[in-house]
Amino acid sequence: MTEVTRDLAQFDRIIDRYEKTEESLLAILQDFQREFHYVPEEGIRRLSEVIGVPASKIYAMGTFYKALSLTPRGRHTIKVCTGTACHLKGAPQILEALERELKVKRNGTTEDGEFTLECVNCVGACAMAPVTLVDDVYHGQTRPSKIMDVVKKQVGS
Ligand code: FES
Repeated sequence: MTEVTRDLAQFDRIIDRYEKTEESLLAILQDFQREFHYVPEEGIRRLSEVIGVPASKIYAMGTFYKALSLTPRGRHTIKVCTGTACHLKGAPQILEALERELKVKRNGTTEDGEFTLECVNCVGACAMAPVTLVDDVYHGQTRPSKIMDVVKKQVGS
């Protein structure tokens, strides 16, 4: 997915909610993440200008905090558990079905910005293997032929 060019006013609206100090950085980045589903590069540059903190420092925060993503993400996240139990119970086939249906590769985001598809390690629910999480809701014993129904049912499309 290509980066969308955004109006600086979109960033300023968020930045203006906070004191222009270094202590506000994380909260602002979290708001960027909520609003755009990732932290856009232009937002980091703008924040650097307004707060007067080097962009490299803000990038470092963006990579350090797991809740922040520096690459565009979909409105919904689908995580396929590929831990051992899930792998043995068919996680690779679920992943293939999702890649095919959504026309996206693992760790990628669909063209329309709806879904990001990720592989994750054991999510601690091996008894339900294979497990797929849609926006962090667990779905157990999923089948490749049914996985898109599960996704659509949850996101309501
Ligand atoms: S391996 Fe998937 S939940 Fe444990």
